[in-house]
Amino acid sequence: NGIRIFDPAYLNTAAISSKITFIDGDKGFLMHRGYPIEQLAEKSDFLETAYLLIYGDLPAKQQYDLWKYEVMHHTFLADDLTKLIGSMRYDSHPMSVFISAFAAMGAFAPEANPALQGRNLYINNKDIMNKNIIRILGKAATVAAFSMRVRMNRPFISPRADLGYAENMLYMMDSMSEGENYKPDARLARALEILFILHADHEMNCSTSTMTHVGSSLVDPYSAVAASAAALYGPLHGGANEAVIRMIEKIGSVENVPKFLADVKEKKELLFGFGHRVYKNTDPRSKIIKEVSETVFEACGREPLIEVAIALKDAALADPWFVEKKLYPNVDYWSGLIYKAMGFPLDFYPILFAVPRVAGWLAHWKQALDTSGAKIWRPRQVYVGEKLRDYIPMEQRA
Ligand code: CMC
Repeated sequence: NGIRIFDPAYLNTAAISSKITFIDGDKGFLMHRGYPIEQLAEKSDFLETAYLLIYGDLPAKQQYDLWKYEVMHHTFLADDLTKLIGSMRYDSHPMSVFISAFAAMGAFAPEANPALQGRNLYINNKDIMNKNIIRILGKAATVAAFSMRVRMNRPFISPRADLGYAENMLYMMDSMSEGENYKPDARLARALEILFILHADHEMNCSTSTMTHVGSSLVDPYSAVAASAAALYGPLHGGANEAVIRMIEKIGSVENVPKFLADVKEKKELLFGFGHRVYKNTDPRSKIIKEVSETVFEACGREPLIEVAIALKDAALADPWFVEKKLYPNVDYWSGLIYKAMGFPLDFYPILFAVPRVAGWLAHWKQALDTSGAKIWRPRQVYVGEKLRDYIPMEQRA
């Protein structure tokens, strides 16, 4: 009808109706398909939660067994893709490897590309949609693990389909796996599995809205995952877990906390791991993560930086500047401390967010194609540039 709403950064715009995830930002509440995140974190595993997000209901036993079998048997990478990952520099950021590997993976799956197969590919052929969902989910953990092996300059370790999703990822990364009969510590495997459940979806966050946006052009889902991973890489989104630890390391000790907070208030610094577009109270995931951290510290030893993290959090929560702005710790505030205690290198943290979020990206990609088909996302703008003017030849320009 010609009426346009100016809404920079989409502060208020809802671009879809969705049945996947609900957040009550004022109450600090999160549920997927009606199930509260606390129950999923306690009782579910990552692949079951991924199935719930993507297909709408908890799977019956037979459905779950088949789903797990299929995803875990699609964890292998094509040889050429393995070579491509192996050709990257040892100090490449793992997210660069992840983005590149998924962009390249599209070239290995021409049957998944509506540009080649026809615009109604995913409307007419749900088998091809499901097959690619399974492939992408299976391969995400392997790409992540291989990006770590590149870093370590060690040979790649083939996935094991008989392990749990997070357990297999730990297995593929660990140099201990080069010995025989090695299995990751069960407490750490479960801790990572819970972290994966917590990160699996969060409605229209920056990377998921990227998946829906990019997917709306009908590009293949591998390229759309590469684009979403790029969105997640940034420090205001999935890169925040890495940025939190860099920040806490820079603060260094409890005595330096007041000076750092003063710099934040003067807008010289950002308090990474605080604030959220939707949560204006607590982030329910950060509470669960805090509990997981105790298990991990028990297994790996207490992370010394935790004292600085607690002092920083307490000081910020007691400071009216942060209270008035409704800034609370988000999921990334604590997760980095767990990853650090588990021995992951700093720049590997965002990929530990990206791998499980692939489930959410796929759920939203499928929902969008199932419900609105191929309606391209295309926001409008308010033009504030130059008025019409004549071209000036180069020799007459100042
Ligand atoms: N440190 C200092 N000031 C902050 C912070 C922060 N972490 N977050 C928000 N503010 C200030 C902001 O400067 C603004 O101040 P003013 O009113 O004076 O202009 C006010 O609080 C409102 O914040 P906003 O930037 O308008 O909020 P937003 O919804 O646009 O941004 C955010 C949300 C998460 C990007 C932001 O809070 C932020 O930059 N946080 C730090 C990065 C971070 O932890 N990201 C992870 C987010 S949770 C997981 C995920 O989705 O990836």
